[in-house]
Amino acid sequence: MNETYSESELQSLPFMNSNLDLEKRVEDLLSRLTLAEKFKLSSGRLMWHTKPIKRLGVKSFTMYDGPHGVRPDTMGEKKSTYFPSAICRAATWDSKLSFEFGKAIAEEVREVGAHMLLAPGINIQRTPMNGRTFEYQTEDPFLNKILAVATVKGIQSQNIAACVKHYVCNNQEINRLTSSSEVSERALQEIYLPAFKATVQEADAWSFMTCYNKVNGIFGSENYNLLKERLIDKWGFRGFTVSDWNATAFTSTEGCVKAGLSLEMPTAKIYSKKNMTKAFDEGKFTLNQINENIRRLLRVMFLVGLFDDQNKLPKGSRNTPEHQELARTIAEDGIVLLKNDNDLLPLNINKVNKLAVIGPNANFRVQGGDILSGGGSSINFPPYEITPLEGLRHKCKNNVEILEDPSKADITVIFAGLNHNHGMDAEGEDKENFRLPLEQIKLIKETVQKNPNTIVVLISGSPIEMDDWIEQIPSVVKAWYGGMEAGAAIANVLFGDVNPSGKLTITFPRKLSDSPAHASKRSYPGNEKVFYDEGIFVGYRHFDSKNIDPLFPFGYGLSYTTFTYNNLTIDKEVMREDDTIKISVDITNSGKIMGKEVVQLYVRDIDSSVERPLKELKGFLKISLESGQTETVVFELNKNELSFYNPRENSWVVEKGIFKILIGSSSRDIRLEGAFEYLE
Ligand code: BGC
Repeated sequence: MNETYSESELQSLPFMNSNLDLEKRVEDLLSRLTLAEKFKLSSGRLMWHTKPIKRLGVKSFTMYDGPHGVRPDTMGEKKSTYFPSAICRAATWDSKLSFEFGKAIAEEVREVGAHMLLAPGINIQRTPMNGRTFEYQTEDPFLNKILAVATVKGIQSQNIAACVKHYVCNNQEINRLTSSSEVSERALQEIYLPAFKATVQEADAWSFMTCYNKVNGIFGSENYNLLKERLIDKWGFRGFTVSDWNATAFTSTEGCVKAGLSLEMPTAKIYSKKNMTKAFDEGKFTLNQINENIRRLLRVMFLVGLFDDQNKLPKGSRNTPEHQELARTIAEDGIVLLKNDNDLLPLNINKVNKLAVIGPNANFRVQGGDILSGGGSSINFPPYEITPLEGLRHKCKNNVEILEDPSKADITVIFAGLNHNHGMDAEGEDKENFRLPLEQIKLIKETVQKNPNTIVVLISGSPIEMDDWIEQIPSVVKAWYGGMEAGAAIANVLFGDVNPSGKLTITFPRKLSDSPAHASKRSYPGNEKVFYDEGIFVGYRHFDSKNIDPLFPFGYGLSYTTFTYNNLTIDKEVMREDDTIKISVDITNSGKIMGKEVVQLYVRDIDSSVERPLKELKGFLKISLESGQTETVVFELNKNELSFYNPRENSWVVEKGIFKILIGSSSRDIRLEGAFEYLE
């Protein structure tokens, strides 16, 4: 113990041998660390790094934000690809794109010399008012799971660690540092945990970030039940946990060590040498417990190649044309066409003479380089960002005149929406308003008086109220925050070079009080406690069961073509416990142009002993079809997809009886129905 080594001696130590089994390397290094060195490794330095142990050649492990582009420094000296925000990526409903995104962003992480990306953020979108809705994927646990698994696999395919965050029930920003999410076991199991669990069991996630908030009275970083009992023991997580930055503020040293928190970030507080030594000397935690926490961190250090020849690791790359093209593809495929009366869209470049382009988001760069904006920790610094106006100018050059006066134009496009400033789509606080800023509503209403051919393009990362103006506007497009290529993607969709295929991953309510979290003050924003009174009835599960008409339902999005659904077949009338049931359906592009459709499969349990949602998403596939082309889509279900969490028995159960299969183009546009019987 505590020996010093020459460089050649170090190289000959077993843990430096990359041919040795991973666990043997971990144990060898762990056995050489002194207790003081283990304490040192338990907390960070300089915001983004662990402390090196020079004696043993343990370098700093480096982790950077964020979910939409790597940000190696806070001043933006090193630029990186700015990808569309997570809600836009999710709206593509394309798991391949999530994988490709993960892979590409990990290449950028590698290129800047880091080892872990602080992403993906996969908290459920419980309320449209959450300031970080744009950073999360969806209100639905099944979709969340598929996309999270693909993203983690993509990131880790480059030997870069994903850090799945924020575990768990950090579903609002208001009071996030102090409040307790009071949530039932059933809602945890059915809604909030599935995607987290799947990233462990299906994608071997190497790291989890704890939440700031308490869950049922206990802070995430010292929550023994969430970390040790579920994540580590039940799910079989082999990675390490890291606190959200300063999320340990109100926790205890021993509480966190025992719960299984490996790393306190960004600097030592409860894990300071003094606090660790005192708690250990007083017998408040054991050597085994600290060993286990450090073992996990070391394991990931080996997995990312911290001790290996850097030339043998996957190569990094940053700001490549491939990454930029991927950013554009995600933006294009995530854009959701919400309304399109009389086929005003797509615009015909040969027929439009004058196009008015107005509105506060028309020439606005989302990542303006303003360090206070950018939405908080997901800010990044791209080498360029194409604004909507720039994208349209480029598209229209020599063909269409772009002007600012709607009364002089054939068509007007208003770029309305929000930005990442405080009180909007930003971290640390929730949105101040559900509606658009009043001056924008006024602009929309006045503009359509001057020019009936007005299109509203919404740049924002969350649902907003539209009841006040949408009736008067023929076409509405949700373009989210589309990353550095957003302007090009929007122009491609408006002019029909790209047929829109994005679908909403969150219900757009008509008014906020329709939204399940907003039933009372105790359910939102709460105070010391936020009561998840709606239980499992989050998102469309609530709108369906209460029969509330949303403005736009979950899974909704229009196309410039049409699709017909035919020939639903279910391969069994009766399903038994170990069976897999095959469901197939023919989808035909019945319109005139090529397009992509997201075919959605929902399940309804007809004879349940407990209250269940009227439908639950259990399958989806995005397919691309030429005009006139038909494809057969096949889904497979097993009993897991039929089960619910029964709190009385503390387990997942399937009850015998009839299950309905609903196949549709959105959660409220079910085209075909079938049924089968489940017998135990
Ligand atoms: C955020 C995390 C982020 C961390 C580091 C926190 O405030 O909640 O998502 O990764 O800061 O910037």
